[in-house]
Amino acid sequence: MITIVGSGKVGGAAALFTALRKVTDEILLLDVVQGLPQGEAMDLNHMLSEKGIDVNVRGSNDYSEMKGSDIVVVVAGSGRKPGMTRMDLLKINASIVKGVVENIKKFAKDSMIIPVTNPLDPMAYLTYKISAFQKSRVFGMGNMLDLSRFIQFIHEATGYSRNSTRGLVIGEHGENMLPLPRYSTISGVPLTSLLPKQKTDEIVQNTRQVAAKVIELKGATVHAPGNAISAIIEAIIRDTRQVIPVATYLDGEYGYSDVSIGVPAVIGKNGVEKIVELDLDSNEKEWFKKGIESVKTAISSLEL
Ligand code: LAC
Repeated sequence: MITIVGSGKVGGAAALFTALRKVTDEILLLDVVQGLPQGEAMDLNHMLSEKGIDVNVRGSNDYSEMKGSDIVVVVAGSGRKPGMTRMDLLKINASIVKGVVENIKKFAKDSMIIPVTNPLDPMAYLTYKISAFQKSRVFGMGNMLDLSRFIQFIHEATGYSRNSTRGLVIGEHGENMLPLPRYSTISGVPLTSLLPKQKTDEIVQNTRQVAAKVIELKGATVHAPGNAISAIIEAIIRDTRQVIPVATYLDGEYGYSDVSIGVPAVIGKNGVEKIVELDLDSNEKEWFKKGIESVKTAISSLEL
């Protein structure tokens, strides 16, 4: 069973895209708002009935119903308003996520936890520390979403199929994220041989800034985060061993310890099977370090 804690727009989208992937027969939506998860579940079940998809979506306000969950996605918390950074949500969301994780420890102690709540990397760290789960079972969804945007910008710049495009974004899911043109290809052809540096620099900057633009225009990002969550769920359940950038706990990898941040990882039935260490150049190392410093500063202010 997949539990999604937080039945707002992103939680609802995560349930929708997960159900459409047909990787589970049961999804539980939880929320503190009375009626919201129940209504969302009914709406989704009606859609699934027309499609003949036998995934049952339940909605509840009772945390004890997450008992037996294989995966718990944590989306609960406030979203950014126009003009805010993800880090602006640190204090308010840390207390919400703490409460959620205490309930996961109580009712779903054998689950895998996928934090999504922002600021994602500090929330992934907080989740890991408070849950005291093995680090392979706690990894946040952030860069997978950034990667979907990075691929869109590459597609727009080249006109080539999205399906031919492979890329990587690592580091902080925030102002210091690190899209990697050097590790991006189109059908194996390096992006850096297809586009001039001025263009790849522009794509990198656009990838960092586009979420704020979507929020300014429509008030929230919904479909892309919901889908990115479902892609990670599918990799776990189908044990695909895809290399996916996730916010996971570093214990010496990339030269850093006691911090959670986005790095490429092999994702399978056991969660983070292995962290993939890339050979970063000096500029990439600088950006990654800025992300580490930003996350560590945030972590230091958390009462864990
Ligand atoms: C975004 C939020 C989910 O990047 O951080 O859309």
